[in-house]
Amino acid sequence: VSIGGLYAEFETETTLVAAARAVDDAGFDLGDAYAPYPIGDMHRWADSRRSGIPRAGLIGGILGAAGGAVLQVWTSAVSWPLDVGGKPALSWLAFVPVAFEMTMLGASAAVVLAFLLEAELRFRHRPAKLPGTTAGTGFALEIRAVGNTDFEVISSLLCEAGAVAIVAVPCDGTSSGSTAGGMTSYRVLNRFLMAAACLLVGLAILLWSDRTRRNLVFAPDMALSSAATTYSPNAIYADRQIPRSPVPGTVPRGPLPLRYEATEEDALRAGTELFLPVDIAAETDPTRGAALFATFCQTCHGSEGHGDGITLKRGFQPPPSLLTQHARDMKDGQMFHVLTYGQKLMPSHALQVAPEDRWRLIMHLRNLQRRLPVDPPPFGSPAAPATTKP
Ligand code: HEC
Repeated sequence: VSIGGLYAEFETETTLVAAARAVDDAGFDLGDAYAPYPIGDMHRWADSRRSGIPRAGLIGGILGAAGGAVLQVWTSAVSWPLDVGGKPALSWLAFVPVAFEMTMLGASAAVVLAFLLEAELRFRHRPAKLPGTTAGTGFALEIRAVGNTDFEVISSLLCEAGAVAIVAVPCDGTSSGSTAGGMTSYRVLNRFLMAAACLLVGLAILLWSDRTRRNLVFAPDMALSSAATTYSPNAIYADRQIPRSPVPGTVPRGPLPLRYEATEEDALRAGTELFLPVDIAAETDPTRGAALFATFCQTCHGSEGHGDGITLKRGFQPPPSLLTQHARDMKDGQMFHVLTYGQKLMPSHALQVAPEDRWRLIMHLRNLQRRLPVDPPPFGSPAAPATTKP
């Protein structure tokens, strides 16, 4: 029989590598190496066919980068240029991230595809036990196509390197125990699957009758959820309400609830219970309070609190001066209540002004009252002096 190849079995990784190197140095063609785990440099000697996977990765990467760049240039500079704050439509720097991602995508997809093509989905297994041997160590070397003369040479080489068993494989490859029949059936299956996939994609494109609509959509619930309108009946909850109220006892973020009602009694009670916080009273810089007053209060109360703000010129009823004896006697806590809940025509400022800032405003008022003389009580109030009209 002419010999189609050789299988040699080894007991350790070292002997396997040494044998592979020796056979390679002698100029023979190594087929494959088998080991229970990957051996670092083995690919240098075993299976010298060059893999096309790196090149596929490079080509896929370049195509991906070019595709990403062209897609963005086309969409944002040619087909649909939008003026975004006067920025140029062709801002290549903004295209870099997407092009980079497309490079990765192209390269990895090409590598996977090349791997599948190259492997043909064949998973080669060395027969657990070489025919005619007893060892079954897991380390083996395959040497391809050796004639009868070379057989002697290689056998001795391998034995020197430490092979424990050597089996000759006849040209038809049967006794190697490789699943030649199995491989052909895999190949047929692979071709069939690829053809079926191409056919399906082709059919999907051909049968896509209306290009302005989506093709078949799988699980579209995220894109096409049925959003409820605010006042439509709720199908899920028994009370049929769409807007849900918070769980009882929920404390809102931001302003902490004050345990007061918007009544005069509670304003007086706040006067006896709420006091200027110590840390705010210790602040020495008056600018924030003054700025808050200019923003939120001056329109009605006037820059110095005399009750002569600009709204009076538009018909707003004049507020009382904040420099009257009444306002000076008002407790800090009551003022806090006035700012939080409002008082008659004076609107609540709870939403505009944070609690600490309300205290800063009160400090500012106290500064004004300390600095400026007392204003008379407003006209018509019980404490107002009798006017002498001519
Ligand atoms: C929309 C106009 C308006 C704005 C803005 C306004 N107030 Fe008043 N404020 C009034 C009116 C009107 C009264 C009188 C309410 C009443 O009749 O008891 C008043 C009363 C007050 C009182 C009670 C005075 C007293 O003697 O009873 C204080 C204190 C006060 N405001 C502080 C402020 C502060 C501080 C701000 C800024 C956050 C502010 N107000 C913003 C209109 C306004």
